[in-house]
Amino acid sequence: MKRALCPGTFDPVTSGHLDIIVRAASIFDEVVVGVALSPDKGGGPLFSAEERVGFITEAVSHLPNVIVRPFDTLLVDFAQKMEARVIIKGLRAVTDFEHEFQMAQLNYRLDENIETMFIMSIPEFAYLSSSAVKEIARHGGSVRGLVPDAVCEALAARLKQSR
Ligand code: PNS
Repeated sequence: MKRALCPGTFDPVTSGHLDIIVRAASIFDEVVVGVALSPDKGGGPLFSAEERVGFITEAVSHLPNVIVRPFDTLLVDFAQKMEARVIIKGLRAVTDFEHEFQMAQLNYRLDENIETMFIMSIPEFAYLSSSAVKEIARHGGSVRGLVPDAVCEALAARLKQSR
């Protein structure tokens, strides 16, 4: 049984993330989507861990070999707990490379039994990020198609509240 871990903060999950998860699920027997609590990232996530897990769970409900779990530990410790030997990350552009390279090296240093592998983003999503989605939505732009529909509604409601 080959199990892979797709980690991220997913605040919120985008169509780009989902493309990587779907492609990983077509290669591995099982995929665990690990939602990092990341309380300090970017001044704190817009959505709670439960909300982020919920959005992804709904979006992958058609994929029987994908499960979604929150975590608040080192990534390699979570990979061990989930019995996943492979960490899958999406790579969008050269700008992602340096950060991803550093994380992959550090994770290898922490546990050399766990491999990091990369799936290249398709061109359509190469420009897409959770922070760009939040910025567009914050200024009233449409993010339809860039995130699942449920996230569109939740973004509109959350940003309306905070205005
Ligand atoms: O989607 P993101 O926010 O770029 O994902 C980053 C994530 C969650 C993969 C990274 O922050 C992480 O691995 N967090 C867990 C804590 C950890 O292990 N940090 C050391 C990694 S070198």
